[in-house]
Amino acid sequence: MSRPTPVVALYPGSFDPITRGHEDIARRGLRVADRIIVAVAHTSTHQKSGLFEVDERVALIRSVFEDEPRVEVLSFTGLLVDLARDQGAHLVIRGLRAVSDFEYELQMAQMNHELNPDLETLFLVPEVNNSFISSSLVRQVAALGGDVSTFVSSQVVDGLTEKLRG
Ligand code: PNS
Repeated sequence: MSRPTPVVALYPGSFDPITRGHEDIARRGLRVADRIIVAVAHTSTHQKSGLFEVDERVALIRSVFEDEPRVEVLSFTGLLVDLARDQGAHLVIRGLRAVSDFEYELQMAQMNHELNPDLETLFLVPEVNNSFISSSLVRQVAALGGDVSTFVSSQVVDGLTEKLRG
């Protein structure tokens, strides 16, 4: 297959909420893609219950990438391969933090490639300082009154404060 131009990549996930690790991966992705679509999966699409509503996650991600016109944010239901087709994306970006991520990521990459052989998954590795951060730990630490300002951007700190106060 020839290289599509421009290169459009999907960066899918739950992003509940977006962390500095996610941000790191998306910004690295811009080195290989002309445009990145951060795609927030609705919970019906995978088996996780969340803290932020999907629209709130989208708004937080948009505010984090306010400075970056090559990053677009949307939410989706259904299969990632269908979203890729609709958006003209041939690349899926995922972050790999540790070996424990690998098995699940490999399975998803292979399934997506099986469903759409034109879709490639590219794994990117975050900065060491970001490699232990996960949205679930951020939610837990914030809910128990811990300081998460090193793990998420200030907009997300504000969002968490408001959400947990409510
Ligand atoms: O950040 P997460 O929660 O690990 O992201 C998982 C996500 C949303 C990327 C994955 O569940 C997904 O792609 N869901 C869409 C449904 C789909 O296409 N499933 C088959 C992929 S193997």
